[in-house]
Amino acid sequence: MVKETVKAKIVVDKESQISEIDKRIYGSFIEHLGRAVYGGIYEPEHPSADENGFRQDVLDLVKELQVPIVRYPGGNMVSAYNWEDGVGPREERPSRLELAWRVTETNQMGTNEFVDWAKAANSDVMMAVNLGTRGIDAARNLLEYCNHPGGTYWSDLRKSHGYEQPHQIKTWCLGNEMDGPWQVGQKTAHEYGRLAYETAKAMRLVDPEIELVTCGSSNSDMPTFPSWEAETLEHTYEVADYISLHQYYGNRSGDTANYLAKSMDMENFIETVVATCDYIKAKKRSKKKMHLSFDEWNVWFHSNEQDKEIEPWTVAPPQLEDVYTFEDALLVGSMLNTMLRHSDRVKVACMAQLVNVIAPIMTENGGAVWKQTIFYPYYYTSVYGRGVALQPLVSSPKYDSKDFTDVPYLDTAVVHNEEKEEVVVFATNRHLSLPLEVNIDARSFEGYEVVEHVVLENEDVKAINIAGQENVKPHANGESKMDNGNLVSIFPKCSWNMVRLQKK
Ligand code: AHR
Repeated sequence: MVKETVKAKIVVDKESQISEIDKRIYGSFIEHLGRAVYGGIYEPEHPSADENGFRQDVLDLVKELQVPIVRYPGGNMVSAYNWEDGVGPREERPSRLELAWRVTETNQMGTNEFVDWAKAANSDVMMAVNLGTRGIDAARNLLEYCNHPGGTYWSDLRKSHGYEQPHQIKTWCLGNEMDGPWQVGQKTAHEYGRLAYETAKAMRLVDPEIELVTCGSSNSDMPTFPSWEAETLEHTYEVADYISLHQYYGNRSGDTANYLAKSMDMENFIETVVATCDYIKAKKRSKKKMHLSFDEWNVWFHSNEQDKEIEPWTVAPPQLEDVYTFEDALLVGSMLNTMLRHSDRVKVACMAQLVNVIAPIMTENGGAVWKQTIFYPYYYTSVYGRGVALQPLVSSPKYDSKDFTDVPYLDTAVVHNEEKEEVVVFATNRHLSLPLEVNIDARSFEGYEVVEHVVLENEDVKAINIAGQENVKPHANGESKMDNGNLVSIFPKCSWNMVRLQKK
């Protein structure tokens, strides 16, 4: 019996390149929120904790993901944060009402400890400054504390805290989601644009080597999107290197076909922000190209209801602890593909977040650590999606869903790693009942052979992983055959795939 399939085609050519991929698109995010810090990366009483209190079981998984940069300390939390509370002797640090998430912040972890943790994780730090309740002064002081070698008040204070060498933090966010009414110290576009410009000016005077991210809209559904981008960039275009994008998706209606198409919304979001940046560039007769920092992205909706039950002012309660399903992993795979296809403009991206809070890694306080379903597409794309993103010419059958028309069943991104002589195809099959038979014309990669075809599939789109029970995990028995530069792959129904080719 011949198995029923749908057929699609891809043409890739070595010379048809989108861009060199900035590895920072595989970044992530740790906010002082829920159990991301306390019980996540830092838990001195945990059996695996080192002398700094860092959980080694968590660090091992973070290192496995090869996360190049981690944004810190927020998020919403940064908009009312006094960074000075988190430095110096621990016993002298104040506990504070943390207004964004209405919890108590003990400040047992702060800037220096996070820099130590990031070092241990082989990551760089992307630091956010408070432009909600504070401004130019706190930002320039924090930068001086972190990056100035010594001989001044703030840099000597760092030294007195045991950090002789400057942290040399390169990438800085000028606030967080300043258009959001939920933000402490929300601003109008004009107010934010002016403040961000003046803060950037002062920060660059302290350290001209830094890179700055100006706040874009909190998400593409904000009523002020994209005029917020246009108006704020009128002020910040010449002083910022990146503009931020944030977006979270969810499947509240349970319509999987529609849900898997949501990466098309992300695509549209990126393209609209690029167009807005280029409009301001033209208006200003500027020679500079603005890049994008997609510094919060993920699935977030599972925990919304249970978060309403949290007792205010507790310490590190379990907040935003989404338990991810198999279908969430498929969407995450497509969101990563989307960023690869826009790697000419998206230079930084942070999966939000990294541990416990809407995260690929989950822990129990004092106990186990495990991988959520979304860990897998993130892991494979981060580890193997390095090099140059190629422009795949795709012809795929399409479907219509509630919110989208012409959704290709095949969602793909292709990466060429010249150094390793490797070509990697990442692909989601959005078809819920049929396999996709894909013919990939890769004739410019003569002599390449399939080394592995990893598949993430599951009969149950709602399957989840819990401590000690990994129901959703990849296998490497995918069907792929390379013949004379022609690759034929079968992507099972409703699956995420990675096909890796290497020169013989
Ligand atoms: O990542 C969770 C929250 O989502 C962040 O604190 C905020 O920036 C966004 O709204």
